[in-house]
Amino acid sequence: MEVKVPLKVILSGEHAVVYGHPAVAAAIDMWTRVRAEPHDSTVISTRYFGFEAGIRVERRSDGWTVVSEDLLNEFSYLVEAVNEAERMGANVDAKIDIHCEGPPGSGLGTSASVVCGIIVALLKLSGLEPEREEVREAIRNVEKRVQGRASWTDATVVTMGGVVKVKGEDVSKLNGIEPPMVVCYSGEPGPTAEALEKVERLRRKAPDVVEGLMERIGEVAEEVASAVEDGNVEKVGLLMNVNHGLLSALGVSTLRIDEIVNVARRSGALGAKVTGAGTGGCAVAVFEDEEPARRVAETLRAVGYDAWVVRTVSGGYRTSDSGA
Ligand code: MEV
Repeated sequence: MEVKVPLKVILSGEHAVVYGHPAVAAAIDMWTRVRAEPHDSTVISTRYFGFEAGIRVERRSDGWTVVSEDLLNEFSYLVEAVNEAERMGANVDAKIDIHCEGPPGSGLGTSASVVCGIIVALLKLSGLEPEREEVREAIRNVEKRVQGRASWTDATVVTMGGVVKVKGEDVSKLNGIEPPMVVCYSGEPGPTAEALEKVERLRRKAPDVVEGLMERIGEVAEEVASAVEDGNVEKVGLLMNVNHGLLSALGVSTLRIDEIVNVARRSGALGAKVTGAGTGGCAVAVFEDEEPARRVAETLRAVGYDAWVVRTVSGGYRTSDSGA
C-alpha cells in the first residue's frame, strides 16, 4: 500500500507559533510517498531529495531502536513514528520505502510527512483505520519527543491540507487565494530541534525583546490570514517580507537564505521569506501568476540553487492499496 503526504510551507508565523502566537501554513504539491508491505522484520529505507541513506530498526525489550550505523537526526523521527504506531495498535513488521521530494531539514515539513506516512501505513497494514485527528495528534507527539517542543502546524497541514491558520490548539482552514509559489533550497539543512533551541537560548537571554518580536510576528500572521481570505496576494507578499525581517532578528535566516530572498524579490516575487525552522533549509516566495514564478525559479537555478514552482493542495495525506 502507499500513503502519499504533501509537504508544506509556512507563509507566516514560524517559531512564534511554538509560543502560542498564530501562523499561516499551506500544503504544497511536493510529496512524500511511503510504500509499505508486510515483511519478516521492520526495515525502513529512505530516499530524500539530494540525500540517500537507509536504516534498519529492530524491536528490543525497551521498544524499537535504530541498529544501523548511519544516523542523522531525521532518523529519530522514523523510529519514533514506528513506536507511536505500535502504541496506537499497529502489530505488523513491514518493509517501508520512503521517497521524499524535499531534502531532509529543509523546513518543508519532511519530518511530519514521513512520520504521517509511516503511522498511517503501519496502522492500515494492521487492519486499523485511523481517524485523521488521531494521526494529527500522533505526529505532534512524535515531533515533541524528537524536537523537545512543537506547534500543531506541520501535523495539521499534512493531515488536513489546504491553507490553515494555527494558534495554540485552534486550527482553521482559510478559503481565499492559492497563489503560485517558489520554494528554493539553500543547500544547507537546518534541523528543527537546533533552530528551536537557538531561538529559546535567545529568549532566555533577552526575554522581553524576543517576546516583543514574537508578538509582532503573531500580528503579521493575523494580517496574512486576513489577506489570504481577502484574496490580496500583494499584501501577503509585503507581509512575508516583514515576517522575514522579524525572523532574521530571531537569528534563523542565513547568508544563503538572504541571498535567495533578495534574488527572488529583485526578479519579480511579491514577497519572499525563510520558511519553517530556518538556520538553513528553504525560502518561499509568492507570485500573482505562474509565469513570473517560473522565471524566478529559473533565475535561482542559474545561480546554483534547487528551486520548485509549487501550488497549494487541498486535502492532506491520501492512501491507495496499489501503491500506484
Ligand atoms: C516548523 O515547520 C516550524 C517551527 O515553528 C516549529 C513548529 O511550529 O513546531 C519552527
